[in-house]
Amino acid sequence: EIRQVYDALKRPLRDLRISVIDRCNLRCQYCMPADIFGDSYKFLPGEELLSFEEIERSARLFADLGVEKIRLTGGEPLLRRNLPLLIKQLSHINGINDIALTTNGIYLKKYARDLRDSGLQRVNISLDSIDDALFKEITGRSIGIKPVLQGIQAAKESGLEVKINMVVKKGMNDSQILPMAEFCKNENLTLRFIEFMDVGNTNGWKLDHVISKKEIIQIISSRYSIEPVESDYYGEVAKRYRYTDEDPEIGFITSVSESFCSTCTRARLSANGQFYTCLFSSSGFNLKEYLRSQADDEEVINQITSIWNNRRDRYSDERNEPNKDKKAKIEMSYIGG
Ligand code: GTP
Ligand code: 5AD
Ligand code: SF4
Ligand code: SF4
Repeated sequence: EIRQVYDALKRPLRDLRISVIDRCNLRCQYCMPADIFGDSYKFLPGEELLSFEEIERSARLFADLGVEKIRLTGGEPLLRRNLPLLIKQLSHINGINDIALTTNGIYLKKYARDLRDSGLQRVNISLDSIDDALFKEITGRSIGIKPVLQGIQAAKESGLEVKINMVVKKGMNDSQILPMAEFCKNENLTLRFIEFMDVGNTNGWKLDHVISKKEIIQIISSRYSIEPVESDYYGEVAKRYRYTDEDPEIGFITSVSESFCSTCTRARLSANGQFYTCLFSSSGFNLKEYLRSQADDEEVINQITSIWNNRRDRYSDERNEPNKDKKAKIEMSYIGG
């Protein structure tokens, strides 16, 4: 039986974003810059990660409070061993009707089929450039786009719904807006342009680096005709458009220019089991410790309920308000985006 919980601003709890690992095989400049996430960087040791049993239990309890949608993220979630097994466990939870994965796609060629067979429905694949040399520069590694393209192909062939995520940063990949639009149009893939955000403390964010939805639309409109699409459900993150009389859609994630906190239904669980009520939180609740104590399900549920009931986060709305004290935030690779 589901008891829908609401926060202090009357927002229901609907989604749970779970980071399953803080490591990644890429070093995107804006997320895990190589000079910080280098050889001596201390990633979480295995025993600090939530086990699959702990993730499954958390997800089940969150589902009892209204969560319907689960997204697995990282770091790079496909670096977590046996991920398809976790998906299978999650797919049996009552009330969960959508399981998705956000990945850089490199391991999808290997795992797409297994993931699909385990109950995964959708993948969002990050790709910031269709130009191989620029992709390598952005991702700080020599891997290149080829495995990503193969991963996209494998995901499509195995029946997963695929969307492409492109973080747009001025001076980094604005040159790729039209080439990426063209590529995704040809491949019939939904492309979402993501405004560069000030997540974490190490990505050197400045407002000047942001290319807004409005500017991107201007660029797209120089070549294509697009029109807005009604949003699908309460709290949908992306603002959706379609090419006039043609497939596919494009979307904009406007955390900076048009924040969407007023309908934010998302809880986050970091790889080491901290429960956060906002992507920009500076601290969370140590759910792992609580799960590993003697607390029974009812006690865990009460704890989550009281945290959600007290939630007032609206970081993106407040970003531009003066005199906001700037607290240290959690890194993206750790909280999961
Ligand atoms: P769909 O369910 O497919 O719409 O997924 P999604 O867009 O919610 O998730 P995805 O992991 O693909 O994230 C795309 C971008 O949206 C990433 O840059 C996320 O960090 C960002 N994002 C997702 N949820 C939030 C949120 O609650 N707040 C902010 N500020 N950004 C978010
Ligand atoms: N701003 C916006 N999006 C980001 N992502 C990672 N760092 C940032 C940032 N600073 C994106 C990734 C991935 C998603 C989970 O978040 O590219 O698509
Ligand atoms: Fe890895 Fe994604 Fe971060 Fe790039 S954006 S470093 S692929 S987690
Ligand atoms: Fe939700 Fe925080 Fe993002 Fe606003 S900034 S949409 S409250 S996660």
